[in-house]
Amino acid sequence: MKKIKLGLLGCGTVGTGVVKLLQQNKKVIEARLGAEFVLKYVADTDQTTDRGVSFEDGVFITDAYRVVDDPDIDIVIEMIGGKTVARDLILRAFENKKHVVTANKALLAEQGAEIFEAADLHGVDIAYEASVGGCMPIIKTMRESLAGNRIQHIIGILNGTSNYILSKITGEGISFEAALARAQENGYAEADPTLDVEGIDAAHKIAILSALAYGTRVDFSDVYIQGISGITPMDIAFAGEFGYRIKLLAISKIKDGSVDIRVHPTMIPFDNLLSNVNGTVNAVTVSADAAGDILLYGHGAGMMPTASAVISDTVDLARNMISGGSSRIPLLAFQPDLIRTLPVTSIDEITTHYYIRFSAVDNPGVLSKIAGVLGAHGISIKQVHQKGRKLNGSVPVVMLTHLAREADIQRAMSEMSSLEVISNEPTLIRIEDQDSED
Ligand code: HSE
Repeated sequence: MKKIKLGLLGCGTVGTGVVKLLQQNKKVIEARLGAEFVLKYVADTDQTTDRGVSFEDGVFITDAYRVVDDPDIDIVIEMIGGKTVARDLILRAFENKKHVVTANKALLAEQGAEIFEAADLHGVDIAYEASVGGCMPIIKTMRESLAGNRIQHIIGILNGTSNYILSKITGEGISFEAALARAQENGYAEADPTLDVEGIDAAHKIAILSALAYGTRVDFSDVYIQGISGITPMDIAFAGEFGYRIKLLAISKIKDGSVDIRVHPTMIPFDNLLSNVNGTVNAVTVSADAAGDILLYGHGAGMMPTASAVISDTVDLARNMISGGSSRIPLLAFQPDLIRTLPVTSIDEITTHYYIRFSAVDNPGVLSKIAGVLGAHGISIKQVHQKGRKLNGSVPVVMLTHLAREADIQRAMSEMSSLEVISNEPTLIRIEDQDSED
């Protein structure tokens, strides 16, 4: 049986999962591939942690450059992450004509242009299913399954840590801080959870998917990002009273040739399937002109689910090698010379429904003052809700708007903040309610 030699860079959680999966599912992988994977090297500077896997002599090494420079290695699996060492190793692997599998979403989202161009230049493939949504085959769906479609939008829950935190606040009424502590106790959140809870991880993923969807270059700095650290149990409870749940959504839409890419806490109706995606799982809907809506749901992180995506990519690349080809599928779904730079819709230009919560003095005429500011900015109120006891002389007032422009809402919000009858900075949450056009 033909042998395909693999070199793994990084033996952390996912790297260890890759080793385990190659060992435990060796037979079924070979039966599908018609060749044998030989893990020639696993490189990691930490040689002491017990990972529950064993290697033959000479396999487990410290020097990652030995892997990418070894002429015997066919496919390099980069599981180091980050934008420095991993980048250098990937570029070196390309120069040495090796195909690469990676889960490195930060690198691809922020420096993808350099990486993809280098792969094309050297005539090698880079596969990255594990960079978005763990085990879910979303990259394959975008690159292959929807090749006959024009993609209209992608809306997803792409960060399991944030989804776990929001699910805890929703289910148990606890604060963001308490829910984050719970996520950390359970090993879901990093000691520094910024990338997850501030929406950056989800933004990396939606940037990658947007490039694949529309055949456009995405400048990561154009992605609007807002995390979940400002979400309170009170807002979640009010959302529920209006028939909505709050999720950290990654949203990408194309309209009139302009792309709108953003990540922010979003209210979605109970009957939207994404509103019932709870805990650490991910889900993403893709809307395409011929296919209609597709929903993928599954583990977006974790040792074995992510390893599943890595092995899928490794099998794909090995199959290409066996059949004598590479670059069969364009790395970014579109032919490289036809990738454009589409204009980006500024967040100020989006039009949606909004939830606004104020702490207002409970006196006659207060609502009319607030409504007056909204009206002056052309914002029409759909529902108003005032409920609950006075707290330090204020009551929460919640309003839902009809469709409004973000720039108008922001101007109204800043004007309202200076009203004497408003005691705190108002809270604003965007609503994604596709059925409602008013
Ligand atoms: N940190 C990510 C999450 C998983 O919480 O979903 C890796 O992409």
